[in-house]
Amino acid sequence: MSDQFLQTRRDGTVERLTLNRPEVRNAFNEHVIAELTAWAGEVRAAAERRDVRVVVIAGAGKTFCAGADVAWMAKTVQYSRDENLRDAMAMSRMFAAIDELPVPVIGRIQGAALGGGAGLAAVCDIVVADDHALFGFTEVKLGIIPAVISPFALAKIGRSAARELFLTGARFSAARAREIGLVHAVVPAADLDAAVTTYIDELLTAGPDAIAAAKALIPQVAGRAIADAAPITSAAIAERRVSPEGQEGLRAFLDKNTPGWHR
Ligand code: COA
Repeated sequence: MSDQFLQTRRDGTVERLTLNRPEVRNAFNEHVIAELTAWAGEVRAAAERRDVRVVVIAGAGKTFCAGADVAWMAKTVQYSRDENLRDAMAMSRMFAAIDELPVPVIGRIQGAALGGGAGLAAVCDIVVADDHALFGFTEVKLGIIPAVISPFALAKIGRSAARELFLTGARFSAARAREIGLVHAVVPAADLDAAVTTYIDELLTAGPDAIAAAKALIPQVAGRAIADAAPITSAAIAERRVSPEGQEGLRAFLDKNTPGWHR
């Protein structure tokens, strides 16, 4: 598929994706959703081959992402219920495909991340935002709701913040986004790339299989009672300890060597 609305670049094992519809503040319609879903599939395959170890998602222009394309959503009044459901499921699959990538995904956020743009932030593992960026689950202001993004957003911000922010639709600062767990680092706009690079450098010193296993563990364990989680966590560490990568990492530490994956 030709990517009309996405730009991608591969720097070594770092895959950089830029949403590229700056004239509508990188709002996504059905075409962007299809491109993003296909891109995530390709990145998953590359990650499984270890050709990609980190992903960075950014937006072209002065805004990260203004969410779903309002003109596209307005048009859906002509769709049947089945067509509307199909569209919403496609959007859900797009968020899930990014959420489940077996490599760390860093969100680089400037300007604003609103509606589905805040949803995109929520499916990133690490989010770096400029200190003037605005966030918001603004859907209710348009008479709609943050439905498709809600499981991803809730996993980051929890019920209490969701009850305030989903219901008011209010825009909030990067500092607030950090307080509620949607953002991890807030820096001046001029320092965004440096902050992303710091995270990339850190991630490239960790075992790629271990990172994938740690990422997969979080949704398996979240919300479970400790007794229910114990068989899952025990199996996960038992497997890692005897894995080639686990053995290499443990041995390298004892021998005061650097493991092979260390960039
Ligand atoms: N869908 C479609 N078009 C959008 C859009 C969206 N979500 N967000 C912005 N645009 C369009 C505007 O209509 C405008 O088009 P025009 O040039 O034809 O008038 C263009 O992008 C620029 O928007 P503008 O508001 O002038 O840019 P800005 O830089 O001053 O502000 C935002 C950027 C993101 C803060 C602002 O556009 C905004 O609040 N957008 C709505 C976000 C939203 O509520 N999203 C939730 C969707 S569920």
